[in-house]
Amino acid sequence: MEMKDKTVVLGVTGSIAAYKGAELASQLAQAGAKVEVVMTEAATEFIAPLTFRNITGRPVVTKMFELASEYSVEHVALAEAADVVVIAPATANIIAKIAAGIADDMLCCTVLATKAPVIVAPAMHASMYENSVTQDNLAKLKSRGFTVVGPAYGRLASGVVGMGRLVDVNEILGTIRQVLGRSRDLAGKRIVVTAGGTQEPVDPVRCLTNRSSGKMGYALAEAARDRGAQVVLVSAPSSLPKPIGMDVANVGTAQEMCEAVKKAVTKADALIMAAAVADYRPKKVSKSKIKRERASSLMLELERTPDILGELKGKFLRVGFAAESEDLVANAKKKLQEKGLALIVANDITAKVSGIGADTNQVVIIDRKGKVEELPLLPKREVADRILDKVVQFLVKR
Ligand code: CTP
Repeated sequence: MEMKDKTVVLGVTGSIAAYKGAELASQLAQAGAKVEVVMTEAATEFIAPLTFRNITGRPVVTKMFELASEYSVEHVALAEAADVVVIAPATANIIAKIAAGIADDMLCCTVLATKAPVIVAPAMHASMYENSVTQDNLAKLKSRGFTVVGPAYGRLASGVVGMGRLVDVNEILGTIRQVLGRSRDLAGKRIVVTAGGTQEPVDPVRCLTNRSSGKMGYALAEAARDRGAQVVLVSAPSSLPKPIGMDVANVGTAQEMCEAVKKAVTKADALIMAAAVADYRPKKVSKSKIKRERASSLMLELERTPDILGELKGKFLRVGFAAESEDLVANAKKKLQEKGLALIVANDITAKVSGIGADTNQVVIIDRKGKVEELPLLPKREVADRILDKVVQFLVKR
């Protein structure tokens, strides 16, 4: 619930995508945010203010001078209360108005008066979006520090396919979290996180891999983003949706992961290796599919992959994971020392609740001084934040 205590002013304008604003409001409210919805008059033609009122449990502002909420008395009060202002969907009209500094409705007034960051998610017909006037207006907003998210390419209301669709609600949410994170404890820090299980090819159709879901690494990357870090997620194949608000490098093999991490850590403050990296790969990859022969067995010769965490050293803090099935703390301490890490996060992979693929994890965090902290069973996102608490301590001390 990292949006608790945050006030999000959600501006909804007159677009066919206005209904998606309701989904966004719902997700924000579920994440604990106080959501204040401001609708333009045109927006109320597409969706009823009552929908937003019920979702947010707050009055909805539609007119500048109506006493619908505690904020309507003072036309800049919402602007002052906002931690972030989000306009989703944003029509070409509202974009033009805010670019020009017009203040003839409550949403325009709020945007003009606020010191909070403003996120704009355009939605309009492709020809309106492509018009140089709209492009100039968007460029103007960006140059003033507004965050523009989207639009996406796809089928538009008119049936035409082009640029102009409102981006996915998750993409807007990710952007909001990222923008809100700018004032948090990892602001300005660069964190590289790896996730998922690498795949080592045997032939064009087969590979050696493991059961890692990528959930722990993705939770860490998202938690770091929400705390203000610039995140690079180096991800081995995973079925999880691509996280928003970070650079994502998709890789397959341990070798590819090694190269991507090497590139990413050049300016990094920390590397967190949550990926399950294959320790061995087939020595020879068959160019054609290996056929079933008469012989009852088949030998595959394996060779070592690079030890990414062990070999990549630099000024950045290194955090490892130790997936163990026995002697958890002793084995993890050994890895911490051998790889010269700042921290190691150990978990018992034989336990169902904390094993591979679970949504929860029970870990032990060990630091380089040998201090051992056992965490209770927690959702992976909370485990991620507890790990990052330690990372923050180390980064501050350095
Ligand atoms: N790791 C890595 N490169 C590898 C193997 C592992 O960077 N080729 C990283 C993992 O991402 C993890 C840590 O090293 O953060 C420990 O991984 P683990 O597989 O548990 O340890 P190993 O050192 O491979 O030891 P073992 O498999 O013998 O337990």
